[in-house]
Amino acid sequence: MRVWASAFLGALLAGLVGLASAQDAPSFPFCQCVRSASTSRYEVVDAPAVSLKAGYWCVQLSVKEQCDKPKNPCCNADLHKIELLAQDGCVGSRMTASYGYSAASLVEVPSVPTWETPDAAPEGAAVLKVVRLGLNTSSADGIYICFKALSGNCKKAEQVCLPGATGQCQLSLFNSDSSCWALPAPRL
Ligand SMILES: *[C@@H]1O[C@H](CO)[C@@H](O)[C@H](O)[C@H]1NC(C)=O
Repeated sequence: MRVWASAFLGALLAGLVGLASAQDAPSFPFCQCVRSASTSRYEVVDAPAVSLKAGYWCVQLSVKEQCDKPKNPCCNADLHKIELLAQDGCVGSRMTASYGYSAASLVEVPSVPTWETPDAAPEGAAVLKVVRLGLNTSSADGIYICFKALSGNCKKAEQVCLPGATGQCQLSLFNSDSSCWALPAPRL
């Protein structure tokens, strides 16, 4: 009984510590989804944010040959949506998202990026969301996803992103029904 009680207390304290540091390391993405990077093949290439074209900042995706858990259906999931943890001061900034394999082949994504401030998001945080990417494990390999602000003060990655513990942008990738989720190591 006593052992259980102290284990419970320990868990409670850990929870409180987690809450106290939530400001620095928010629990992103704010979704009811399978949170496992081991069931996804999508990754963000280990490189700084690239400016493929003036005014654009981009992240490049890559696709792993295999999942860590290859039998999981999420290993062949499509790539429908990208979420980016952002600074709430940027909410409402008009943005466009483009994608392509090079600067010359960039085309606009079939949707306009949207802003959200989920209830679960910590103070100062918002989410920039791009849907209808229509990518899959073949077409996502090597593609750049680029953002461009049409106005305002949120033109650069550093101005938009709410950095994680490592000071880098935090991205999350989802399939069409948001059942599969991947949080690639944030690298911007
Ligand atoms: C991925 O999408 C491309 C372009 O839409 C399509 O040609 C290809 O067959 C798809 N590949 C897979 C593995 O679904």
